[in-house]
Amino acid sequence: MIINIMSGSAQETNLWGQRLGRLLRGGDVVCLMGDLGSGKTALAQGVGLALQVTSPLTSPTFTLIQEYSGRIGDKAIQLIHMDLYRLQQPEEVEVIGVTDYFQQDTVCLIEWPEVAQEYLPADFLLVEIEGNGEMPRRLIFQAEAGDWEERFRGFADCND
Ligand SMILES: Nc1ncnc2c1ncn2[C@@H]1O[C@H](COP(=O)(O)OP(=O)(O)OP(=O)(O)O)[C@@H](O)[C@H]1O
Ligand SMILES: [Mg+2]
Repeated sequence: MIINIMSGSAQETNLWGQRLGRLLRGGDVVCLMGDLGSGKTALAQGVGLALQVTSPLTSPTFTLIQEYSGRIGDKAIQLIHMDLYRLQQPEEVEVIGVTDYFQQDTVCLIEWPEVAQEYLPADFLLVEIEGNGEMPRRLIFQAEAGDWEERFRGFADCND
């Protein structure tokens, strides 16, 4: 599956994050790739809104891992927002316990996931963001396994 969407503003990227959030389930791992300042955190903030997280998501650049309580329907879930930019070695991914969060009651959003590649579940969703500064962004949603294709049916036509 591969879906391309253009976003002209941070607000629009947030909206696409909200639309993405509405199709997430516990156990999902979503990787957010793109340059510094491309909008990974902006998209994650939209996901947080859709998962009814009450405190605003802040960038986890310094904390590496932030935990939030959210809901999907009437079910409580944990939303984990990670930023692995500062990790140098794949082994550090284990040390900070990234894979401990791959649980059925947890949705994981991972910025700068490259260093964690070998630890990701096969059915992770990749969101790549192209562009930075004042340019419009291209949001590319892709997955090689799992039921994402079904879940993303009609996604590009969302306008609510
Ligand atoms: N179409 C757009 N989508 C997202 N952000 C945009 C867009 N246009 C401009 N921006 C701006 O780009 C910046 C994106 O910042 P954000 O913190 O989300 O990036 P990031 O990818 O998380 O960066 P980092 O790698 O440093 O964590 C914000 O200042 C935002 O206002
Ligand atoms: Mg960020």
